[in-house]
Amino acid sequence: MAIREVRIMGDPILAKECRTVEKMTDRLQVLIDDMIETMNDQNGVGLAAPQVGVLRRIAVVDIGDENGTIIMINPEIIESDGEQCGPEGCLSLPGKQGEVKRPNHVVVSALDREMKPITIEGTELLARALCHEIDHLSGHMYTELVEGPLTDVEYADDDEEEQE
Ligand code: NI
Repeated sequence: MAIREVRIMGDPILAKECRTVEKMTDRLQVLIDDMIETMNDQNGVGLAAPQVGVLRRIAVVDIGDENGTIIMINPEIIESDGEQCGPEGCLSLPGKQGEVKRPNHVVVSALDREMKPITIEGTELLARALCHEIDHLSGHMYTELVEGPLTDVEYADDDEEEQE
């Protein structure tokens, strides 16, 4: 496993549509492991493949709950309801955050790393993280949805950084 360089907003790769994964390969398995390691290294709660320069529909999410690390291949939101508004950040825009409105509950259909179908259901922070990462796969950053100004994140201490 290796930590990969996270692309920063302004990098054109972050604005591109990702390709569907048709077949799992050893190379993609290494990518998934590296994405998890990179997310954890940067104290993120999620990371999408384009953020490490790979235009494939793969994302990982770990909000530190009982779901552990969720690996999503070709994820699609199949149900969403409710509404929440809260601060969101992104490893591709370090030190910034903004208020974003998201559904409070989503159901996601995806494949796991063995290409078996899975369904992930999330509310609150998990719903937010799932939406945020899936948006990356279509070339969208949360900054397009921010209501009000982007503000600087103030870290109480290093262990409390949480960015998607
Ligand atoms: Ni992000």
